[in-house]
Amino acid sequence: MQGRGGVQSAAPGFRSFPSDVMNQKDDAFWLLDPNVTYLNHGSFGSCPRPVLDFQHSLRERLEKNAMQFLVRELEGMLDSARAALAAFVGAKPDDLVFVANATTGVNAVLRSLTWKPGDELLTTNHVYNACGNALDFAAERNGARVVVADVPFPLDDEQQVVDAVGAAVTERTRLALIDHVTSETGIVLPIDRLIPLLQERGIEVLIDGAHAPGMVALNLDALGADYYTGNCHKWICAPKGAGFLHVKPEKQGAIRPLAISHGANSDRTDRSRFQIEFGWTGTSDPTAFLSVPEALRVMAARHSGGWAGLMKANHERVIDARRVLCEALRIVPPCPESMLGSLASIPLPDAVTIEPSLPPLALDPFQDRLAHRYAIEVPVFPWPQPSRRLLRVSSQDYNSQEDYRRLADVLRDIVGSDDGCRASASGC
Ligand SMILES: Cc1ncc(COP(=O)(O)O)c(C=O)c1O
Repeated sequence: MQGRGGVQSAAPGFRSFPSDVMNQKDDAFWLLDPNVTYLNHGSFGSCPRPVLDFQHSLRERLEKNAMQFLVRELEGMLDSARAALAAFVGAKPDDLVFVANATTGVNAVLRSLTWKPGDELLTTNHVYNACGNALDFAAERNGARVVVADVPFPLDDEQQVVDAVGAAVTERTRLALIDHVTSETGIVLPIDRLIPLLQERGIEVLIDGAHAPGMVALNLDALGADYYTGNCHKWICAPKGAGFLHVKPEKQGAIRPLAISHGANSDRTDRSRFQIEFGWTGTSDPTAFLSVPEALRVMAARHSGGWAGLMKANHERVIDARRVLCEALRIVPPCPESMLGSLASIPLPDAVTIEPSLPPLALDPFQDRLAHRYAIEVPVFPWPQPSRRLLRVSSQDYNSQEDYRRLADVLRDIVGSDDGCRASASGC
């Protein structure tokens, strides 16, 4: 993992903040509400104060002279930020572009490609709902069909993932959309095995790595996916609105941004069309992208072992958390520790399942109860059917075992209580 062992220096052209963030008190570093036990870094992480300060300084520069910043300086600054990110994810800067988020990255790829009626687009039942929708949309437009591989959860080992995906491949499979770290079930899928397995059969692979950067070590060049998109605003802790799309050089010509802009008829030859088009997609605030190197630097400085140390600490904390929660609920851990990064999902017992089927994005009533009555932010997802639930905890630098013990105590009380939480939406 390049440049991940210690403090990274800020990219050229960037003002750097003091590197001594390791000893900053939590409330000086994180803006989190001290009255809330925040166990949902996975959905929306918190961005550290030094990174937000850095972003603010960039915004001030922009507003002092927008022409200077956006027209004369932006491209060079984006190049520097891309170079820092590329070093972190094991890629060449030219193969990577910034996009606002992983949803945009997935859409850009799926809406650039075309298929024929009868072609099959493969995904798994663990796919993130928004990206599954993008796949359905792209398939429908082309008369193609979406095939969903049924990967079990709970599961015993990663071979079950490989078998399920392999079994769903046919001669008509053209592209596979695979999550690197799944959202609801919180597991790291063995994409290093899936990518060659699929590509050997002539299938293009689009990896949705929304959670992976900053959670697991990445080497995108070695992985060799045709397309890989990820977020910097989750586990790298960059400001919201910073994601990237990585595309193999030979595929870049076909991939266009969702917003076609000036780059489409540019006669520039000094950089690729891919870079030119994604480099400007209309006026927006680019400071989240430009703050990525600062987030990389600041978060590495948070741990004596740099990024490797931080990821390991987050991983070990979530393993302990899962053990405490499984003991409290008297359930068996639903997957091997080796398939976890810094998320862990556990099935809720019948006593806390509830009936109503919920529309996407609606919060589960049990999740709401934990937030409103106990000030614990932790997501609850329907799995595999709306009548059953998974609870997913996250582990980030600001979390401690105390947080998970609080949740475990609350769950133990609820499960042990007479009426449990077999409640309706209003009661739970
Ligand atoms: C697997 C997966 N893909 C995509 C996304 C979407 O991320 P964003 O909203 O930043 O596009 C998420 C969000 O949690 C996710 O878990």
